[in-house]
Amino acid sequence: MTDTLDLFLPCAAGCADYLADEVAALTGQARAALRIDRAGVGLRADWNAVLRLNLYSRIAQRVLVRLWHGRYAGEDDLYAAAATQAWEDWLTPRHTVKVDVTAQRSPLRSLHFAALRVKDALCDRLRARCGARPSIDTARPDVRVHLHLGADDATLLLDTSGEPLFKRGWRSDTGEAPLKETLAAAIIAATGWTGTDGDGAPVPLFDPCCGSGTLVIEAAQIARRQAPGRLRRFAFERLLPHDPARWAACRAAARAQEIDWPADRPPIAYGSDVSFRMVDFARRNAERAGVGAAAAFRGGDALQRLPPAPGPGVLLLNPPYGERIEAAGVAGGLGADAFYERLAAHWKTHFGGWTAWVLSPDRDLPRRLRLQPSRRIPLFNGPIECRLMRFDLRARTAKNDEPSAD
Ligand SMILES: C[S@@+](CC[C@H](N)C(=O)[O-])C[C@H]1O[C@@H](n2cnc3c(N)ncnc32)[C@H](O)[C@@H]1O
Repeated sequence: MTDTLDLFLPCAAGCADYLADEVAALTGQARAALRIDRAGVGLRADWNAVLRLNLYSRIAQRVLVRLWHGRYAGEDDLYAAAATQAWEDWLTPRHTVKVDVTAQRSPLRSLHFAALRVKDALCDRLRARCGARPSIDTARPDVRVHLHLGADDATLLLDTSGEPLFKRGWRSDTGEAPLKETLAAAIIAATGWTGTDGDGAPVPLFDPCCGSGTLVIEAAQIARRQAPGRLRRFAFERLLPHDPARWAACRAAARAQEIDWPADRPPIAYGSDVSFRMVDFARRNAERAGVGAAAAFRGGDALQRLPPAPGPGVLLLNPPYGERIEAAGVAGGLGADAFYERLAAHWKTHFGGWTAWVLSPDRDLPRRLRLQPSRRIPLFNGPIECRLMRFDLRARTAKNDEPSAD
């Protein structure tokens, strides 16, 4: 197998720039050497990078090895391309396999049949080289192959992650509209929050509508320098190039760089939610994630919660919107306009000097808050187009005794 693999890391639309920063930092490659697409980052790297990217990337959805990219007109071209791949370098007939297919403007009538032809080519090749065919397992395969079909070009990719990387292994309790961990991490990257300021002083982060705690837990893990994949397993552990000793060393290095967070050290990331059930979920998730001391959760209404730590800090939230979640607590019965007007008034009075970052699909949010955003970053929450908006809350000064915002 060649040492230089062609890797592709898909991410949510809008997050590729942040993922590229992360990939450059994790691999030591120049950003200019990376291929940055709308929804992913490509690079050439070795097997060590596969281990590191799976273990440490917060923003990538998966780490894929691009085996082949070329033109196709029909299923026979896909069979021929798949038949030339050295599958025997990756798996044996004892592995179970699944071929997933996605398509954009593909002229083929049956995507299922296209996937079947790729699977046939893989199985025929292994039978020819190893004397037997692997079996298919559509639920929990050892090896997942992705076939992506464009209008006239196709890509074959081998999945080294298995379960998507947003499954960190700590979330078992979720609310109704939890953010994916990978999107939460991209949002935090977009804010530039790292836990400390330029002088190393702590900068608290507070999500007053925290739900199951995704933003707060991701932030606390970042502050503790915990690898997001520390609790989970990966598909590469079943592939032939896997070297358990090398992987054990990689995991040990990740544990060694974690920052201790004793119970008497003040937390760095805080969450609150009007739903006590959510607060309970968030606490349990934080414990499982290993940030029980670095993150703190309380119940309460966002319209009443005061800064949980001396600021200035960062407010970060995806507040309730649409009909799925209605504002509750003292805001119960208020319409969205009145809720957000009161929220902004509360921030102006009590969070002077803080920076508020709000993710919402609601284009009317600045009008409702009566605040002018200093930045608007387009990001997709699943299929929903959102904006991450930054509001700079003016600090109290002697002249400006009544704090306000821009
Ligand atoms: C879109 S969800 C946030 C999801 C969260 N980021 C997560 O990943 O789980 C909005 C949250 O706001 C909470 N909420 C609604 N009204 C609130 C209020 N007045 N004060 C505080 N939280 C409120 C809801 O209970 C819900 O958990």
